[in-house]
Amino acid sequence: MNNREMVRRSLAAVWHPCTQMKSHESVPMLAVAGAKGPWLYDFEGNRYLDGVSSWWVNLFGHGNPQINAALRAQLDELPHVMLAGATHAPAVELAERLAKVAPGDLGHAFFASDGASATEIALKMAFHYWANRGQPRKNRFVHLEGGYHGETVGALGVTDVPLFRKAYAPLLREGLPVPFPSRPPLRSSIFSRNATRRSPRSSSSRWSRARAACACITPITCGARASCARATRCCSSPTRS
Ligand SMILES: Cc1ncc(COP(=O)(O)O)c(C=O)c1O
Repeated sequence: MNNREMVRRSLAAVWHPCTQMKSHESVPMLAVAGAKGPWLYDFEGNRYLDGVSSWWVNLFGHGNPQINAALRAQLDELPHVMLAGATHAPAVELAERLAKVAPGDLGHAFFASDGASATEIALKMAFHYWANRGQPRKNRFVHLEGGYHGETVGALGVTDVPLFRKAYAPLLREGLPVPFPSRPPLRSSIFSRNATRRSPRSSSSRWSRARAACACITPITCGARASCARATRCCSSPTRS
């Protein structure tokens, strides 16, 4: 197997996420044969620094021995069981540890399979909380202009990156965007160039405390924002990568 053949097969069989597939007619896709620590290796022995930690999910490096050992031990003991109507020690122990580090009295963890699912769950929980308190009209979600919260239909409603949301606009529940509180204004970054433009007047007039169920805020650091912007650029346009 060589890089070219792997890419050919991939383009014929795989729909790659967060990607305008046409861009790969001019921007080569990276064929990864293996990974170790911070490095990715292609099928021809070249190595590449995984600068975005495979989209932030590999912060401890590829093939981390401690994590691999824990995964293997868990696979041997109990690979999977549903959490509906059943429970098991790893879920309980992790939930207990999260409760200890979470602020206030956030005493229960709801486990999701990915970032966008976590957003969906949070939106539903916020709505459900107000509905249980007799305020079902609090069903709109505040989000930051230029924010990113995933690409499932609910999460896209609070994601403000036209590249991802434009094609699906008719499906989306409009959020309540508020300006990003930064100095200098976010205007200078890739996110605001992409961000859906709304006048402060139109967003504030639609903004209503009576309707807002929660606010979605990404706890993003400058470094993470920079790599996030870079990933978006890489995904979005061959001329910018
Ligand atoms: C802040 C934030 N929320 C949600 C997501 C979506 O995560 P996933 O790609 O796992 O659905 C991301 C992904 O980059 C993210 O950065």
